[in-house]
Amino acid sequence: MSSQQIPETNLPVEQDAAHGAVEAAADPFADPGLPAHRPRIQDIDERAARRSERAVAFMFTLSMLATIGFIASYVIFPVDKIVYIWPLGHVSALNFSLGMTLGLALFLIGTGAVHWARTLMSDVEVADDRHAIEAEPEVKAKVMADFAAGAKESAIGRRKLIRNTMFGALALVPLSGVVLLRDLGPLPEKKLRSTLWAKGKQLVNMNTMEPLRPEDIVVGSLTFAMPEGLEEDAHDFQTQIAKAALMIIRIEPDNIKDKREREWAHEGIVAFSKICTHVGCPISLYEQQTHHVLCPCHQSTFDLSDGARVIFGPAGHALPQLRIGVNSEGNLEALGDFEEPVGPAFWERG
Ligand code: FES
Repeated sequence: MSSQQIPETNLPVEQDAAHGAVEAAADPFADPGLPAHRPRIQDIDERAARRSERAVAFMFTLSMLATIGFIASYVIFPVDKIVYIWPLGHVSALNFSLGMTLGLALFLIGTGAVHWARTLMSDVEVADDRHAIEAEPEVKAKVMADFAAGAKESAIGRRKLIRNTMFGALALVPLSGVVLLRDLGPLPEKKLRSTLWAKGKQLVNMNTMEPLRPEDIVVGSLTFAMPEGLEEDAHDFQTQIAKAALMIIRIEPDNIKDKREREWAHEGIVAFSKICTHVGCPISLYEQQTHHVLCPCHQSTFDLSDGARVIFGPAGHALPQLRIGVNSEGNLEALGDFEEPVGPAFWERG
């Protein structure tokens, strides 16, 4: 084979390889350098290069057509048009065509670019030596001289009182951070585990501030309640309501799937904690057909007809249920406190 010139480097292949081989033979630990560049067919045959060029242009052209198809699909297909496509079955014509055309347009740009890079762009490997990280001796000397001059000007060596108190202050500052570590535990379990709910506490409507009666709760409605005696202007109102807030809904008793939920309800009226078990947002979006409630923060969804178990989202466990009944005045009342801690799911971490 004759010595071949590589267009990008002008290095003769055999000469470069032979040079490395001679060096390696002389010193087995010598840097072998980069392997000799092997020209591709497109580097030496202009017709092959043109073929690759046409292939890349073909993919980019198809991508343009796919984008035009995307715009056309958007204009042509109505939102509710359903078509049968094997093996997918019945799908929305609009969604299917938008997805296919956009996917194709992006895919073809990608494959065109990859083919271009692999066949036509230069593939010669190059190496660039790293620079030393260390500063030059003159720079180091200047920094040290500046530092010494600054220390002298501040008179830190002479004014020992300032120097010593400054070191003391700097040494103590990190202690603030260490003290804050106390908040990592142990947890104030009792405070977090108990709420204002207790046997005999009436459920008060948070909008009207009136005690709730079973007839106030109709199927399909969502009512928020808090314990009687909790005043909105109390100094710890936010702390208490953050643990005690309730969601009250009514479900046909036969539609309650969970046995304990049915037993803890009163004529289909169920009371669950309103505090999401993910990171504690108040839950408020109720879908009466499915009995699902959705937390607006990260979309955790709970099935209130099945023990408020999590059916979607990051929440770690079901919403705690409050056992309720009716007192002698016909008002809804709690039959005790929650049996599980309300709020975020860290309780389940061993
Ligand atoms: S706080 Fe409810 S899903 Fe995150």
